[in-house]
Amino acid sequence: MKDKTLVTAALPYANGKPHVGHIAGAYLPADTYVRFLRLMGKDAVFVCGSDENGAPITFSAIKEGVTPQDIVDRYHAVLSESFKGLGIDFDYYGRTHCEKHNGISQEFFTTLHDKGHVVKRSSEQVYCTECNMFLPDRYIEGNCPHPDCKKPGARGDQCESCGRPVDATKLEDPVCMVCKQSGREGKGCIEVRETTHWYLRLDAFEKDLRAYLDLHPEWRESVKRFSYGLLDQGLRERCVTRDLDWGIPVPLEEAEGKVLYVWFDAPIGYITFTRQYLESLGKEEEWKDYWYNQDNGLVHFIGKDNTVFHAVMFPGMMMAHGDYRMPDTVVSNEFLNLEGDKISTSRNYAVWVNEYLEAFSPDPLRYYLTAIAPENSDSDFSWQGFQNRNNGELADNLGNFIQRNLAFCNKYFEGKVPPAENISDAGKELLEEIEKTRTELAELFDGHRYRDALERIMLLSRKGNEFFSAEEPWKSRKDDMAKCGATIYTCMMVIEALSVFMSPILPFSAAKLRECLNIPALSAGDWNTDAVLKSGHTINTPEVLFPKIDDAMIEEQVAKLTPKAKAE
Ligand code: MF3
Ligand code: ZN
Repeated sequence: MKDKTLVTAALPYANGKPHVGHIAGAYLPADTYVRFLRLMGKDAVFVCGSDENGAPITFSAIKEGVTPQDIVDRYHAVLSESFKGLGIDFDYYGRTHCEKHNGISQEFFTTLHDKGHVVKRSSEQVYCTECNMFLPDRYIEGNCPHPDCKKPGARGDQCESCGRPVDATKLEDPVCMVCKQSGREGKGCIEVRETTHWYLRLDAFEKDLRAYLDLHPEWRESVKRFSYGLLDQGLRERCVTRDLDWGIPVPLEEAEGKVLYVWFDAPIGYITFTRQYLESLGKEEEWKDYWYNQDNGLVHFIGKDNTVFHAVMFPGMMMAHGDYRMPDTVVSNEFLNLEGDKISTSRNYAVWVNEYLEAFSPDPLRYYLTAIAPENSDSDFSWQGFQNRNNGELADNLGNFIQRNLAFCNKYFEGKVPPAENISDAGKELLEEIEKTRTELAELFDGHRYRDALERIMLLSRKGNEFFSAEEPWKSRKDDMAKCGATIYTCMMVIEALSVFMSPILPFSAAKLRECLNIPALSAGDWNTDAVLKSGHTINTPEVLFPKIDDAMIEEQVAKLTPKAKAE
């Protein structure tokens, strides 16, 4: 953990609403990490923004019969709202379709070009004779050309099934998706034609990239396996320009009508947004602390399908450019499925954040998605699982422990924290457990093991609950008020600690809990601050922090899902 860290979360394409898969994949762990860093008293800057260039946007515009600008404006708003509603609290949420980002991306390209790391090549590209244009890779679908895959539904940039990059001209039985969207057949209109493009000489950085990976044995296994796999196959030049009329113009006279490949400009968005954020604070030069100085932290949070770009291509671009420091960590998650099926935007098979928020508060989802985080393997979101976790763990464990203590304190101690005296051995052990949790938990958060971190928090709560039951304060209050007070005092210490520990994952509930306890909201560095609850302190009337979710609410959500899934 470094004193200053820039945290980024993958820029979502501004052509769709965010769903639970996106949240579990990048945004929730990133937000959790940033909240944790701040509690540790570290400086953290958290940037993200809408990915507004490139073929995916044009594709959506064609499909809906509107302009790309309409698409990005609409979805930029939806994305910002959804993140905000879930408490994904970026310092800056920008957009890549803006002058500033064009300038920074073009400068990046020009530097690479001047240094000879980007070279011109003519190549064969897929052209549609019906649409009269070169088809961006994503507009072509066919069977995966990798001999050991061959699955249908591969796109011209990547095969969804095997996850490997695909050469669009090699797709088998190609179909033009632009034609399809416009009501034409899309077959027989595809030919391969020659065009000129600029290529990043990634191959020249193969050795350096391997050395870079070697420096990071601590990265998640899946990221390392995937990245070494690519290096073992040998890196090739990568085309970084496109024939498209939406995006950032290639800053070369001879490149009229061509734009930068969206995967070239999007990661540069992290730089743009850091600059825009610090400029908005009047600190024009400070972005360099994060982007030039290796002593500070740079951590990227991404979903599985972005791994190649963050672990190989963007680092390669940074090496080629020369001015920038290298990222410390790429935290990538596997996929989240939904009720045993792949989440699919095109089939409208997903749990959308904005719809979730119409029915529930944010923390139960943050809880559930952390509890099932696809950190090392794919995991499954199910509404039943969501309800079970909420009712059985949040409500019955954490909520119940807090509730019964606060209620007891109000009823038998006039809402005043009892004296810190006569603590039993079991009580002392529990107080020590708080400190053990504090240490272990910090390591888990710092190591991006959010799932284990949550379990550790719930373990402390469970121990608190067991202690309360074993001490039987409802009996001691009749004949041993000193013992009874010691029990409640000890539990109150656990509860205050829980309000700190759970706050990176459950920020809304942690804030509410601290209000119930009548103690100040958390601020920077509070992870290690001594307890502020003291004997004699008066708490407020408790509120139910984690209401149960009843079957009817779950059935309503399941009903929304099933017909759409079955319609396919
Ligand atoms: N828009 C891409 C996606 O949704 C992610 C871009 S991440 C960045 O898959 F690094 F390029 F910004
Ligand atoms: Zn076509």
